[in-house]
Amino acid sequence: MRTLLLLVLMGLPLGGHAAEGHNECGQLAKCDPVKIDLRDQPSLQRGARTFVNYCLPCHGASYMRYNRMGQDLGIPEDLLKEDMIFTGDKVGDLMKTAMRKEDAKEWLKTAPPDLTLVTRWRSPEWVYTYLRNFYRDDKSASGWNNLVFPNVAMPHVLYEWQGELRPAQPTAQAQDGKPVEKTAPTSERLEVAKPGAKTAAEFDRDMRDLTNFLVYLGEPAKLDRYRIGVYVLIFLAVFLVFAYLLKKEYWKDVH
Ligand code: HEC
Repeated sequence: MRTLLLLVLMGLPLGGHAAEGHNECGQLAKCDPVKIDLRDQPSLQRGARTFVNYCLPCHGASYMRYNRMGQDLGIPEDLLKEDMIFTGDKVGDLMKTAMRKEDAKEWLKTAPPDLTLVTRWRSPEWVYTYLRNFYRDDKSASGWNNLVFPNVAMPHVLYEWQGELRPAQPTAQAQDGKPVEKTAPTSERLEVAKPGAKTAAEFDRDMRDLTNFLVYLGEPAKLDRYRIGVYVLIFLAVFLVFAYLLKKEYWKDVH
């Protein structure tokens, strides 16, 4: 009975992990991989800067305080005040959006969700892929659509960086005199209609930094755990030596 219980308990974390692993990405066959590294402080700082400038106007991160973020990411308080707080908030305040829910509903039809936990209820890969797959769609209210989140109410707020994408057009020339079979644009791939201020590689890096930052937001204590984890391992190693010596001492007379 006890063994059974133990087996069930051991299985639980595995089950949880398997459920997390799903990789649905809207119209795309799968999400793109993204390198998450919470020890990469410059990346987290760049992500934080993009977040407060371009996302916080609509989305809150209301479980995080500015000064906690500053401490964790090595951003001094005067820089926070000068560069990263635009809402008149104080450094000890929660990172709430300035947009009112009612206004959001009126302008955007849907209130933008709080993003503190978004990489946990979606996945870092989902968010990273989502941010890079907006495209022009004149039929939608905002003028934008998204391959990962079809008919999304969010406009492409970073189009000046990325430029404008559109569904890949089928090549017009018929090959070997045969007419082209596919006439509709393919829904799986986007192409650049108007280039933006950044190259694709630069934009990908920025979105990786932003996703990295969003992962940090979802679990800020992970940074502490890395530090504590090292001490725990050292402790266990030392403890093992003593446990072994003690065992030898106890069993000395038996053998
Ligand atoms: C103009 C307001 C606005 C801005 C600015 C904005 N968003 Fe959004 N965002 C929305 C709205 C509205 C939705 C909800 C879309 C829906 O449900 O159709 C949304 C949805 C999302 C989602 C999907 C949430 C989910 O799981 O359903 C993510 C992720 C997201 N936004 C990230 C960002 C990031 C990152 C930024 C900054 C680069 C940003 N947004 C800037 C309005 C905005």
